[in-house]
Amino acid sequence: MSKRFYLTTAIDYVNGAPHLGHAYEKVLADVIARARRSMGQSVFFLTGLDEHGQKVQQAAQEQGKTPQAYCDELAIQWQGLTTALGLTNDDFVRTTQPRHREVVQNLLQRLHDTGHFYKAAYTGFYSVKEETFLTEKDRNPDGTWDPKWGQVVELVEENWYFKLGVHQQWLIDHIEANPGFIQPDYRRNEVLGFLRSQTLEDLCISRPVARLNWGIPLPFDPGFVTYVWFDALVNYYSIPASLGDPAAAAGNAHGTAGSGPELWPADIHVIGKDILKFHAVYWPIMLKAAGAALPHQLLAHGWWQKDGAKLSKSTGNVVDPIAVIQEWGLDAFRYYVVRELAVGPDGNWTDDGFRSRYNAELANGLGNLVNRALNMLTRYRGGVVPAVSQDLAADAAAAVEATRTHYLASELQEALVSIWSLVNRANLFVEQTQPFKMAKDPAQAERLDEVLYTLAESCRVLAVLIWPVIPGTAEKIFAQLQVAGSPGDWSQSTWGGLKPGHQIGAPAPLFPRKDLAPAK
Ligand code: MSP
Repeated sequence: MSKRFYLTTAIDYVNGAPHLGHAYEKVLADVIARARRSMGQSVFFLTGLDEHGQKVQQAAQEQGKTPQAYCDELAIQWQGLTTALGLTNDDFVRTTQPRHREVVQNLLQRLHDTGHFYKAAYTGFYSVKEETFLTEKDRNPDGTWDPKWGQVVELVEENWYFKLGVHQQWLIDHIEANPGFIQPDYRRNEVLGFLRSQTLEDLCISRPVARLNWGIPLPFDPGFVTYVWFDALVNYYSIPASLGDPAAAAGNAHGTAGSGPELWPADIHVIGKDILKFHAVYWPIMLKAAGAALPHQLLAHGWWQKDGAKLSKSTGNVVDPIAVIQEWGLDAFRYYVVRELAVGPDGNWTDDGFRSRYNAELANGLGNLVNRALNMLTRYRGGVVPAVSQDLAADAAAAVEATRTHYLASELQEALVSIWSLVNRANLFVEQTQPFKMAKDPAQAERLDEVLYTLAESCRVLAVLIWPVIPGTAEKIFAQLQVAGSPGDWSQSTWGGLKPGHQIGAPAPLFPRKDLAPAK
């Protein structure tokens, strides 16, 4: 066996309904997973839920439920999201699962045994809402606490701490020596700036059971559960370990290598910019201290707003991905979020922007091309593919190569731009050659054959290129062309795949026009 390409998303807090931001990240990861699988890589794609911590305990209490019952109910809804988004995840982790808990406890015990933790008393200000102790730096200049911290109380508490100071320099060296470790570059620079200018404070990795019991108990001190972030980050490692990954042996009680799939280290952790510090500072230190390899890349995406304002349940400024999918179709949603926003900067959802990309790029761009190409082939040649023509072969080859490079670099917006250069080129080709006029002139029959081949073959190649982003549409194109195989196979993107004499199927519109839909 050899190592699989291992890709993860952040695991979402289970205290509420999924929104655009959660869905966006999962789609990004799915596109990367699909693109690599289509190119022949063996991929393992993990997503899931973060179920412990104060917020979940409180939310469950408010509803008069046990935290576990509360999580179980919501988990159904969140797992439904993976299906609704067409995700191809190989596993779904819930941090309340015994397979995860066991690995977290093994790692805690290992770090304890090797002297990475100490117990100490601490007096300080604590934000109940954010479950974090605050320092003087968190105060406003006038001495008050920002409302984002919610209720702030003074607490004296014994806790367990993780010694971070000894790790600062190697981490800086590692980030400097591995430019791909944190992407995009400006996020990497932010982390380096922070690490170079501030001394790392030790990390409190426990919570006294008296204050919070909804967590994984410290195996070496039953009065405490572990801090939710220590628990959550480990999910990336606990699943490989529980599946018997030989490289995740530190997750087993005796550090013994298993014979399961080779996954660790993760190739890409897809995360939002807000949780970069946890992934770029705490997570590598936890792994290094446990003797485990570091992930290859943290890919930090930006945040969505809607109509220029923060997404917020309380103000109703939300985008419900499920509602959008119900109205416009899954591929329209996946296309928009990937096309609108490069992986990195923040983005802004507007219903007008969504509608306009749908109409211009999907309905009039790709949809119209496929519909015209297949309809003309049906009308003028009875749906029988003519001799191979090379008219757009070079354009297609260039688009295939550019798209492949972008997918492999996780430049997903850029991949779509490359793909649409071929969509636009092929639509321009229709305008330039005017096959509907040629069809009236028998002297041009041979040229019409070439044009019809070129258009149908462009559609076939395009199906392969778009499959990672909009698989349903790609599959419809293959079905209408009645070609064997799957568009999820990159090797099918070579020009000339449509064979002369092949009979295509019946054309049908891919994206119904929505010009008349009222603005919401
Ligand atoms: N549970 C932690 C992550 C633990 S990972 C070991 C968490 N959960 S979350 O539900 O708050 O966020 C999950 C992911 O969704 C994060 O990567 C976060 O950045 C992303 N997003 C949440 N809101 C978002 C937007 N408005 N826009 C884009 N992504 C956003 O943090």
